[in-house]
Amino acid sequence: MKILAIETSCDETGVAIIDANTKTKELKILSNVIASSLTLHSQTGGIIPNVAAREQVKYMIPVIKEALNSTRGVDAQNPAGSIDVIAVTVGPGLIGSLLVGVETARTLAYVLGKPIVPVNHLLGHIYANFITTNKQQTTTNAKELEVSSQKLAVEFPAIALVVSGGHTDLVLIENHGKIKWLGGTRDDAAGEAFDKIGRLLGIPYPAGAKIEELAKNGNSKAFNFPSPMIYSKDFDFSFSGLKTAVLRETLKNKDEKFSQKYIQDISASSQKAIIDVLVSKTIKAAQKYKAKSILLGGGVAANQKLRKTLEQKTKDQMPTTKLFCPQKSLCTDNAAMIASAAFFNYKESPWQKIKADPELYFN
Ligand code: KG4
Ligand code: ZN
Repeated sequence: MKILAIETSCDETGVAIIDANTKTKELKILSNVIASSLTLHSQTGGIIPNVAAREQVKYMIPVIKEALNSTRGVDAQNPAGSIDVIAVTVGPGLIGSLLVGVETARTLAYVLGKPIVPVNHLLGHIYANFITTNKQQTTTNAKELEVSSQKLAVEFPAIALVVSGGHTDLVLIENHGKIKWLGGTRDDAAGEAFDKIGRLLGIPYPAGAKIEELAKNGNSKAFNFPSPMIYSKDFDFSFSGLKTAVLRETLKNKDEKFSQKYIQDISASSQKAIIDVLVSKTIKAAQKYKAKSILLGGGVAANQKLRKTLEQKTKDQMPTTKLFCPQKSLCTDNAAMIASAAFFNYKESPWQKIKADPELYFN
């Protein structure tokens, strides 16, 4: 089954074509094209929704063309002959951006006479872990890169941590389509915390990857920043207190230019505060629900320190539980993960019934 997937929930325009083997459940990425309006947003220090939507309009058709043209076995002039189904992100996200993808998917489905599978973007981040081509999906352990996709199969029950710029959620997956939300952030998302701390340090948006880089040469014990709610019994998170603590610290320095060492130490200490609480709650949820797998997803899952810390804690505290982290390019927004979520939670609809839903959530 060939799935053409479209992702436009925020500032990335993504189109992927995936070949899904309905017997073995193996997914092969045939193309995964992404255009990003990120440079525009780093100039404004964050995403301006209507700018993102206009950029989506600009990129949508060229990205579809590029995906069709770069896929072997697909005739770009006659995609109906090889594409079986259209998948599209319907939410959550920015309404203007979502509408571009949804209306494009509806038009394609109508013109090509194909069904559509509507996809929850957050589920997409989780299902980046189900793209089972060798080396596509991996833990951080170099040796495990070589093991076959068979061995990498996710087993249920699984606990998934979705950490992105807009979301921080812990969910229990009992089986495909059987998902229970356990908790989430009460204020800022983890990625948002990285981005806001970055802004205080003068790092352009989005700051997560740069903070990770700076943190490598910093002292994570230089500042004792809080990991809010780390001892609470629920599975909720809160990151606004951390942001305020970093703000207070940087205000002490307001007349001086921050030294490189100071920026590195703030980066390392705040990254540690974020990772400690993410890892602690994920392990707690995995223990409570006797998870056989832990799945990481979302832009912040690209953070190597988070992956390594979670890997170490999983090994120490739940040695029989398998940890899955998508390869970095599948952590941030992309359409391949949307195709994967569509395949494993297959529910097709006629084009007339598909609607963008910016507030869509788990259940
Ligand atoms: O999933 P994503 O691409 O978009 C949303 O759905 O939000 O996530 C983007 C977020 C940004 O907040 C960015 O700062 C963060 O992911 N991010 C990282 C890293 N790479 C991206 N955060 C920490 N460490 C990273 N290496
Ligand atoms: Zn995302």
